[in-house]
Amino acid sequence: MRIVLGVGGGIAAYKVASLLRLFTESGHDVSVIPTEASTRFVGTATWEALSGNPVTNSVFDAIPQVNHVRLGHEADLIVVAPATADIMARAASGQANDLLTTTLLMAHGPVLFAPAMHTEMWQHAATQANVDTLRRRGIHVLEPAVGRLTGSDSGPGRLPEVADIFAAAMALVEPDAMATQTLAGVRVTISAGGTREPLDPVRFLGNRSSGKQGVALAQAALAAGATVRLLAAHLDVAPPAGVEVVPVETALELRDAARAASRESDVVIMAAAVADFRPSAVSERKIKKRDDIADPTITLVRNPDILQELVQLRSETNRRQLIVGFAAETGDADADVLTYARAKLQRKGCDLLVVNHVGPNRVFGQDTTAVVILAASGSEPQEATGTKKDVSTVIINRIVDELRSVPPRHQPDQEP
Ligand code: CTP
Repeated sequence: MRIVLGVGGGIAAYKVASLLRLFTESGHDVSVIPTEASTRFVGTATWEALSGNPVTNSVFDAIPQVNHVRLGHEADLIVVAPATADIMARAASGQANDLLTTTLLMAHGPVLFAPAMHTEMWQHAATQANVDTLRRRGIHVLEPAVGRLTGSDSGPGRLPEVADIFAAAMALVEPDAMATQTLAGVRVTISAGGTREPLDPVRFLGNRSSGKQGVALAQAALAAGATVRLLAAHLDVAPPAGVEVVPVETALELRDAARAASRESDVVIMAAAVADFRPSAVSERKIKKRDDIADPTITLVRNPDILQELVQLRSETNRRQLIVGFAAETGDADADVLTYARAKLQRKGCDLLVVNHVGPNRVFGQDTTAVVILAASGSEPQEATGTKKDVSTVIINRIVDELRSVPPRHQPDQEP
């Protein structure tokens, strides 16, 4: 496979030498295109030696080969690492002022950007707007890793681990992955984990959700080519590289994050275990046990139903969007699990409801699960059993089917 490896002008350029090694050692033919600025960090001799190919950043070298057209045109994959604020700005605005930007304009295959910069630069509205533009055009922009930056500062902005960039790049071009890029260009928001409702600065009311199902769904959506935002309540597992993570703690924080994300989402999956109630008051100080006063009583108030609100918001804004809920159900003497689940699907108004049959040592914290997917469209309930990863693939495939088969009931989102 022919890979173009663009190198931006950041200190993380030195790490990209290992990425190049991973590509060449897996048998790929790599042409490195460093920006002018990047050669101050790593010289072209390094790239030539490691790639075995000539290296230039000028459109005026090797004129007979028409490099500025040929490299991008022939590349099966283009990876830019580190993707600096500058290279993303130039790519987003379609500039063609060096060999890397002309190559990006000629790209025929998938393009992956692995950003690295200081946190403030990454979070700046200009950079975020450029990232949005690139993503809307189908370019895959990884989320930067969080950690130590060049100086003494730390935060989001580190180059993602080289192994993660390599895996994300390969997922874009492996034949299996190519065949299943069914959600390319689709923006998916997934809530995962359990909310925590504080009682005082030390204690909270929580639940047993591990977040494994939501994280597995994020992985499956990513593998299908989606742009994924993970609204992460408390998780026992790490979110996958390549998704945008929005950390939340309480149901009310999740509600705000979900409402904001929903404006930019084609699919919303509410896999989080949201507390139905929160303490009516949060003590500013730790609640003490004292012999001279009675033991405390905790009064709870109802949290808003986020899923129901998202359905409501969708109809108010006339937005085209698929909304998926989860239901943790138990049967009882009056009705079985599916009867309760059907009633919940109607009550919540979502398009799909993934029903878990909960019980001791079932579902929560486990690696395997068994679900039934109910659809508002009335199609047959679909069962899926296996690891949470396998079940996630079934759910994502079902979402793909629904997106294809259900006629749009809402107008497409307007560009802001
Ligand atoms: N959910 C939500 N907001 C809440 C509670 C739940 O958005 N305040 C979402 C969950 O993320 C899930 C779905 O609603 O997708 C179903 O949650 P579940 O706890 O099973 O159902 P409840 O609505 O709480 O119903 P009940 O507790 O009566 O079974």
